Amino acid sequence: MNILILGSGGRESAFAWKLSQSPKCGQLFIAPGNAGTGQYGTNLNVKVNDFEGIKQAVLINKVDLVLVGPEEPLVKGIHDFFLADEQLKDVPVIGPQREGAQLEGSKDFSKQFMVRNNIPAAASKTFTRDTMQEGFEYLATIGLPIVLKADGLAAGKGVLICLTVVEAQQELIEMLTDAKFGEASSKVVVEQFLQGIELSVFVLSDGNNYKILPSAKDYKRIGEGDTGLNTGGMGSVSPVPFASEEFLQKVEQRIIIPTINGLKQEGIPYKGFIFIGLMNCGGDPYMIEYNCRMGDPETESVIMRIESDLVDLLQGVAEGNLDEKELIISGKVAATVVMVAGGYPGEYLKDKTITGIENVRDSQVFHAGTYLDGENIKTSGGRVLAITSLQDNLFDALQQATADASRIYYDGMYFRKDIGFDLL
Ligand code: AMP
Ligand code: GLY
Repeated sequence: MNILILGSGGRESAFAWKLSQSPKCGQLFIAPGNAGTGQYGTNLNVKVNDFEGIKQAVLINKVDLVLVGPEEPLVKGIHDFFLADEQLKDVPVIGPQREGAQLEGSKDFSKQFMVRNNIPAAASKTFTRDTMQEGFEYLATIGLPIVLKADGLAAGKGVLICLTVVEAQQELIEMLTDAKFGEASSKVVVEQFLQGIELSVFVLSDGNNYKILPSAKDYKRIGEGDTGLNTGGMGSVSPVPFASEEFLQKVEQRIIIPTINGLKQEGIPYKGFIFIGLMNCGGDPYMIEYNCRMGDPETESVIMRIESDLVDLLQGVAEGNLDEKELIISGKVAATVVMVAGGYPGEYLKDKTITGIENVRDSQVFHAGTYLDGENIKTSGGRVLAITSLQDNLFDALQQATADASRIYYDGMYFRKDIGFDLL
């Protein structure tokens, strides 16, 4: 079957690498892709939110299945667009319809969903401009620190952790009345702070059955020792050493099963990945957030540990027989080190030539913000490359990924050398 992946990051590179290995994979297309995805398939010059352009690409290239990488086209309804189109309605899309994507697209929707389905999460209330006064009163009652979340998509920047009530009041005013995050902060979820260690669990569902994929932990801060500004993700490891069998059982019973059942009972169709962002609070899992897609750079580590044919699993999602498919997970450990552009996550350098990829010894080099300029590979994005190594144990995986990252060079190059070492 011919497959189209939408997206251009490290996550989509990892998907392309994996799907291209399947005997079931015919032609593979990536839109728009990057310099790396071109090694596994054909890049198409179409943007992920250009639904008409995607339609033409699907028809011209006889695409049989579409895998959506990022959240934006899902929240904007790409799956619904396919279902409503006479020529596209039989082409399966992996990724939920608009309503299911609200689990990520609206923090208020997702919190209400958790409450309705008795899924453990931090106490919270949602406020708008009209209820700001009640918001101030609530801020004074929930303890410190206070978490404020813009309701809508805010490119990963819409969560603020405030250390004082006064700071939280100021931020609430800025979000609600000064549109700090634009339309996304016209509603704000005010939430209790959860103390614990974060991790992510990934689920693939056909709307009825589910498979639990490997768990992962990502590292969001730019600086070593988890300091400095938040980024899209500087590295990841899978599995997560502190996520014991017992803990993961609790995640399945208390979170995954109620989520799948809740979607079914509420009549929300869901074919795709569910990213469950969790806090491990003294051995008990609490929801932080849902995402309606896989994580980046978690996917790079997770994919390396999936031994089964991913095309077969995605077919199971499309056909609604995921329960008949086999998911085999490697017992090895994967670690990913993300190499970023100088200046990132602020204003960053671009168009720098990347050298040394051929010197990498025992890691996969997944491209993110790269493009081909003649023979040269150049940087185009903040996150440039994700270096992932699969080894027998965490220490070896971390060492190998870090050593291989050092073999690559471009002007302004930076990566964290401490990813995962806190878990050893
Ligand atoms: P999100 O954009 O929802 O992924 O949130 C960004 C980050 O904020 C999360 O990855 C957590 O580190 C942190 N966070 C969100 N909600 C809470 C909470 N209730 N308690 C503690 N930390 C949180
Ligand atoms: N790594 C976090 C995310 O993909 O949202």
